[in-house]
Amino acid sequence: MTTHIVSADFPAARPRRNRRDEFSRRLVRENVLTTQDLIYPVFVRDGQGVREPVPSMPGVVRYSPDTLLAAAEECVSLGIPVMALFPVIEPSLKTPDGIEAANPDGLVPQVVASLKQRFPELGILTDVALDPYTSHGQDGVIDENGYVLNEPTVDILTRQALVQAQAGVDIVAPSDMMDGRIGTIRQALEAQQHIYTRIMAYSAKYASAFYGPFRDAVGSAANLGKSDKFTYQMDPANRNEALREVAADIREGADMVMVKPGMPYLDILRDVKNAFGMPTYAYQVSGEYAMIKAASANGWLDHDKVMMESLLAFKRAGGDGVLTYFAVAAAKLLKERA
Ligand code: PBG
Repeated sequence: MTTHIVSADFPAARPRRNRRDEFSRRLVRENVLTTQDLIYPVFVRDGQGVREPVPSMPGVVRYSPDTLLAAAEECVSLGIPVMALFPVIEPSLKTPDGIEAANPDGLVPQVVASLKQRFPELGILTDVALDPYTSHGQDGVIDENGYVLNEPTVDILTRQALVQAQAGVDIVAPSDMMDGRIGTIRQALEAQQHIYTRIMAYSAKYASAFYGPFRDAVGSAANLGKSDKFTYQMDPANRNEALREVAADIREGADMVMVKPGMPYLDILRDVKNAFGMPTYAYQVSGEYAMIKAASANGWLDHDKVMMESLLAFKRAGGDGVLTYFAVAAAKLLKERA
């Protein structure tokens, strides 16, 4: 029996022609993931010889400053351009105002200095936010009702960013979502002659349940308890507001902007790239990582294929790169395939 296909295009257009062979699939491929698109987030805590597994993030560990050097060396040898540091702060150093964040001799400045000394060619990014340092787990200073106060928080964040810049960090990344913090930090950096310190603004950062495993990893989950971050992080229902947030951060002096989380917010990533044409990054957050790990551990998904497809999707959606806990695994695969 002969099938009759009724279409004005057919058979002049047969989209499957280009898909038939590997060479032509490669020839028509629109986006490519490379190692230079990857930013590797790592957790660091005090101590020596530590590689402490994070239960909700299989394969992710908390490093001590010495073991972190080996991780940094691996990034360098694989060609990963940037490592992002997230501190796990001792409970005894946590206070209501999180002022340890601005300690020039604190964990992060020390680690930054030692990494830049050993691996000057590796870009180092630091998070600017108070949640690892506050006894209540919020990203800022709170009033008696638990409301995060904007200006007092921006003051401490600015001191935190300056301390990180003084330690030699390449990129500061405010993830706090306070109003006006990019401008204040930019002015302070310029005033102190840190004119080359780049700011990657967590511009469109949503109040997401996908951050759960991260809060376990840095140990802020218990401090935060049942409270949430809805008064400063964005409502997952909003799209136009993301563009206003990004616009403000660019006017205030951001060099790069970010959308976070990643996979559930690819529409926002595309909007932001189209609207501003800025260097635009996505953060494939802890919960996205945990989902892929859990499903592949059950044999429900093919780990490597899903990992690579998820990362390529950020490129297709307009991202210039992605912060991902898969950075090292992906870079190794890319190297094998090269
Ligand atoms: C802290 C911060 C968070 C993440 C990055 N920086 C958590 C939060 O806002 O509660 C989440 C990263 C992840 O889930 O992988 N301000």
